[in-house]
Formats: sequence, structure tokens, C-alpha cells
Amino acid sequence: MPGLLEIHNLSKSFDTTKVINDFSMEVTEGTLCCLVGPNGAGKTTTMDLITGRIKPTSGKIVFANEDITAKHEHIIARSGIGRKFQVPAVLRDMTVRQNLEVAYSRQTNPFWNLFKFRVAGLKQKLDEIATLAGLTGRLNDRAGILSHGETQWLEIGMVLMQEPRLLLMDEPIAGMTEGEIEKTVRIFRDLRKTATLVVVEHDMGFVREIADEVVVMHMGSLLAQGTIQQIEGNARVREVYLGEQEAA
Ligand SMILES: Nc1ncnc2c1ncn2[C@@H]1O[C@H](COP(=O)(O)OP(=O)(O)O)[C@@H](O)[C@H]1O
Ligand SMILES: [Mg+2]
Repeated sequence: MPGLLEIHNLSKSFDTTKVINDFSMEVTEGTLCCLVGPNGAGKTTTMDLITGRIKPTSGKIVFANEDITAKHEHIIARSGIGRKFQVPAVLRDMTVRQNLEVAYSRQTNPFWNLFKFRVAGLKQKLDEIATLAGLTGRLNDRAGILSHGETQWLEIGMVLMQEPRLLLMDEPIAGMTEGEIEKTVRIFRDLRKTATLVVVEHDMGFVREIADEVVVMHMGSLLAQGTIQQIEGNARVREVYLGEQEAA
């Protein structure tokens, strides 16, 4: 079975610097893949390339058997790739419910039959997503009073309202408390049942809790791909990445 997302020999140069260098990876539908690697490895740039925010110098990106390499950013979003950015974009003066409704009205995916929540109405959908994002009981609160962690979960909920088939997240637990991270682990384990996820993360404790598969990037290239056990046992990975993390 081909992957839901396939990246083939991707390269990206900014001026004369090759930031992504012949990088390939594959994500199987229904799995959670963690993309890890040292600072500057090219993780965020890879997300930008997948979502069409920037275009590769060479290589190919295939999503759901369709070549999306040359497609416009909003067409890619509409085809079912959602992204949660690092910087929150919630409307602070609106309630959590209103934020989710606004996200829904910006809904970009016309493939209703791919929607996994199987809900009849918006209310039920809102409730399901609030549950998935750990926000039940918060729906009528103003978004501005949420904690940092809750704001992140609201953002995840807002992306889910757009029914992505593939969900990309860049450092979702940055700045969270221990308790918030634990709850995020539970949220991600839940999400994994209904969606395919690519999560950029450098906290290996978190990666160990959530990842089905781990992809390690180094200097714009694929260093290793495998289960967390394979990655942690890989001598090259220990040398260029994990060793440095343990020292820190
Ligand atoms: N627009 C850009 N112009 C020039 N260099 C860039 C640009 N965006 C990213 N880079 C460089 O590409 C490299 C990879 O960056 P990035 O993808 O943000 O890494 P990561 O997310 O893995 O920390 C870095 O060296 C960064 O400075
Ligand atoms: Mg980054």
C-alpha cells in the first residue's frame, strides 16, 4: 500500500544554500509520524513544502496518490492537509465555541465522505472535537482566558473542524507545563484513531509516548526512519542528535 503522504527526493535551496537535500519519507495512513532532528535540520521547511507555502527546487510530493508538488497552497489545504502553526491564531474575545465555528466556516475540504467523525450536525461535531481536543467544559469560556496549553488544544480543534485527512503540527508542546504535556499525549493518542499525523518535536520523552514511526532529519537529509526503539538504538542518530540532547 502506498503511503498517504510520499516525499520523493525533495530539495530546496535558498539562494546558494541547500536547506533540504534529496530528502524522502513516507507516512502510512492512520499513523502518527514524528519528525525530529537538530535545530536547523529542515523540519519546518519540510512542513512549508508539504503545505505548498514554498515550492521545492526539485523532487516530488504525493498526497493520496496525487502529485501536489506544483499545486497552490489553498488547493493543497482543500485536498485535506491541515496545519497547526507554532504561533496561536485564536480570536481571544470570542468563546471557544465561536472559535471552532469560525474555523468550521473556513472549512476547506469538500470530500465529506472522507470525514471520519460521522456527525449529522454542527453541534454534535463541535462536541466531538471539543472532546478530542480536551476542551469539554470550556466551550462557553472566552478564548482569551485559556492557559497556554488550552490555547494550543483549541488550535488543534480549529484545524480538526476543517476535517483534514493529514494533520501537520510543528512543536505542539513548546511552552507547556508537565501536566499539559501529559494531557496532550492523551489527546494525540485519541487523534491517531481518526487521522494521520506528522508532528515535529524534539522532546524525545513526548515522541516515545506518541509516535508510531520516527523520521530523523539531519542537514536537510533523511538520517533514519523507524520505530522509536530502532531510532534510539541507531548509532548514527545517537552520534548526531540524541547524544547532543542527553548532554543538554
Ligand atoms: N527563507 C529562508 N531563507 C534562507 N534560509 C532559510 C529560510 N528558511 C529556513 N532557512 C534555513 O534553513 C535551515 C532549516 O531551517 P528550518 O527548516 O527552520 O529548521 P528546523 O525547523 O529543523 O529547525 C536553517 O539553516 C535556516 O536558517
Ligand atoms: Mg522548526
